Amino acid sequence: MKFDVLTLFPEMFEPIKQSILGKAIENNLLEIDITNIRDFSTDKHLKVDDTPYGGGAGMLIKPDVVYDAYNHVLQGINKTAKIKKIYLTPQGKKLNQAMVKEFASFDNIILLCGHYEGIDQRVIDIIDPEEVSIGDYVLTGGEIPAMVLIDSIARYVPNVIKEESTQEESFSNNLLEYPQYTRPEIFMDMKVPEVLLSGHHKNIELWRREQSLLNTYYKRPELLENANLTEEDKKFLEKLK
Ligand code: 6GU
Repeated sequence: MKFDVLTLFPEMFEPIKQSILGKAIENNLLEIDITNIRDFSTDKHLKVDDTPYGGGAGMLIKPDVVYDAYNHVLQGINKTAKIKKIYLTPQGKKLNQAMVKEFASFDNIILLCGHYEGIDQRVIDIIDPEEVSIGDYVLTGGEIPAMVLIDSIARYVPNVIKEESTQEESFSNNLLEYPQYTRPEIFMDMKVPEVLLSGHHKNIELWRREQSLLNTYYKRPELLENANLTEEDKKFLEKLK
C-alpha cells in the first residue's frame, strides 16, 4: 500500500513515521510519500495562494500548482494500480470504519490536503476526488485528517498489526469492546472480575459479549441499530430496558 500526500506543510507528517507505522515503513509494508505543493509553483516568490474572486476572507490555493503536483504524483504510480483519490475537506462524507475498510482495498491512495480557505474549485473538479471529513468540527487544514486516514487504513494492511486486532475491535462489528484487566489481581481493593480468573473459556466469552453489549447500550446506543446481534444478544438487551 502506498500513500501519496499533497500538502503545503510536509513537516506536519513527521509524527506518522513513528511507532507502528514507522515499523511498517521500515518493513516495506507501507510507503508514505509526501509531495510539497509549493515545489510546483512557477512564481519567483514560490507563491501558491491568491485572494478569492468575488471577494471574501482568506486565501485560496491556486489550481495550476495543485494540478502540476497531482500529475507529478500520478506519473510515479503504476498504470495498472487501483488508485483512490481523496480530498480532505469539512464538506466531505464523515469517515467511518466501513469507509476505512473500503479504502484499504486500494493499491495507491492519493490524499489532497487543503489549507487556508480551500482550493480553487476547477482543479478539484478535474481531479474528481472523493471528499472526506473526519467529523463535524473545523480544523485549520487537511493534514491532521490525512494522518487520521493513513493510520486507520494502514491497520488493515496485512502484517502491520496482528490480524485478530482488526477483527475483534470496536466498530468493526458495531459493538464497543469489553473491559480488559491485567496484573495485579487486586488493585486499590478492586478485584479483577472472577470469571476472567476461572479458565472457563465459554463463560469468559459470554461475559465479554455481555459487557460489549452493556458498553454499547449505555455509551453508544445508536451503534446497536447496525450491529449483528444474535437472538441471545437481543434477549440480553431486552432485559436492560
Ligand atoms: Cl478533512 N478538514 C478540515 N479543515 N476540517 C475538518 C476536516 C477536514 N474534517 C473535520 N474537520
